[in-house]
Amino acid sequence: MNTVFVNGELIDRDKAKVDIEDRGYQFGDGIYEVIRVYDGNTFTMKEHMERLYQSAEKMKLSIPYGEEDFTSKLLHLINVNGVKDGIVYLQVTRGVSARQHHFPSGDVVGSVVAYTKDFPVPAHQMEQGVTAKLVEDIRWLRCDIKSLNLLGNLLAKQEAASEGHFEAILHRGDTVTEGSSSNAFMVKDGIIYTHPVTNLILNGITRRVIEDLCRKNGISFQEETFSVSELMTADEVFIASTTSEVMPVVKIDGQEIGEGTPGAVTKRLQSLFNERKGKEAR
Ligand SMILES: Cc1ncc(COP(=O)(O)O)c(C=O)c1O
Repeated sequence: MNTVFVNGELIDRDKAKVDIEDRGYQFGDGIYEVIRVYDGNTFTMKEHMERLYQSAEKMKLSIPYGEEDFTSKLLHLINVNGVKDGIVYLQVTRGVSARQHHFPSGDVVGSVVAYTKDFPVPAHQMEQGVTAKLVEDIRWLRCDIKSLNLLGNLLAKQEAASEGHFEAILHRGDTVTEGSSSNAFMVKDGIIYTHPVTNLILNGITRRVIEDLCRKNGISFQEETFSVSELMTADEVFIASTTSEVMPVVKIDGQEIGEGTPGAVTKRLQSLFNERKGKEAR
């Protein structure tokens, strides 16, 4: 489980090195993805790879491999490491060049790194629900790019984590945007609300799966902004991400949401999500 992918080669984790002038290291000038592996099979890999190439285009960053080639390299890494329940993390930076803000010349090739990790489903938290803290969203205005530059997200997560919370739920002024590493949803009168796909949020792959599950199962799913007070008085709140799946939020800033336990709509989505996992992981 200790083999990593570095610029086309599979090497031992201990031998992997980063150049001090890699633009990912110096500027966070790169992009990444985290893809789920369930029972040895990837889940929604195509969607993640498509988003990676979209992020690259938005950043004017060139990925040294085509999508199919890159996908098979990652599948090979997953196989070599015998991942069962885990993730594959991959990142592409704008490569190594003398430190300067503007982009290096076209002949500098992007650096590509990938590794795998065991990551069991957080079953206990998914059953009990987690707590969150509201934090002002101070991030930049291109949150749609899955960039390595995560400082705004990290500061928010740290503020929440230092008080024992699982997630920071971000708001820009009065509008709830998303979690620091997840999308945020509220349920009111049986309808699920989540921030529309704009530059202010990451278009989460789990969010898309949830949207699809809702459409196919007659659950009303509205891409509509909602306020902090609407969040606090919602019947249910949950967050969603590749690693957290559908995670109930039962308390925000110390205040119980709904009954203070995972709600019926959230639990239904969890079970639909589980079914989808079983069917689609490949
Ligand atoms: C800021 C942010 N929003 C949303 C998500 C959820 O995205 P996905 O479902 O593709 O993991 C993430 C995941 O890391 C994230 O960092």
